[in-house]
Amino acid sequence: MAPERFTLTRTFHFSAGHRLQSGELGEAENRELYGPCFRAHGHNYLVEVTVAGTADPITGMAADLDGLESTVRRALLDLVDHRDLNGDVPVLLGTITTGENLARAFWAMLQEALPGGSLRRVAVVETANNTFEYYGDGEDPA
Ligand code: NI
Repeated sequence: MAPERFTLTRTFHFSAGHRLQSGELGEAENRELYGPCFRAHGHNYLVEVTVAGTADPITGMAADLDGLESTVRRALLDLVDHRDLNGDVPVLLGTITTGENLARAFWAMLQEALPGGSLRRVAVVETANNTFEYYGDGEDPA
């Protein structure tokens, strides 16, 4: 019988500036498409990181929360907090900083740093109304 699997989600926050601009489009098209998001502005982002594991029989815990905290801080938050996401973050250079693209990029940054195979979901909460979720390649949660 397969061991019980649990998922655990921890929420982190960071503040950063960005603007939406596609290099494939001209200025007028960008302005039309992205509206106010074409202008430089900032967000107080939340990032929800979900990891999976089996409950340790001794500790009763499925994930090392302190380890998750320090890993996410080192591998992600330290690189993006109080930065211009369009210019200050090397891995994002050339990326349109939509919530979708941020979620995918953050997934890649975290997957390298977290215990192998444990990452299940990265959600970028850009505003109270907009949350962008990424589950990795080839995984369709629907
Ligand atoms: Ni924005």
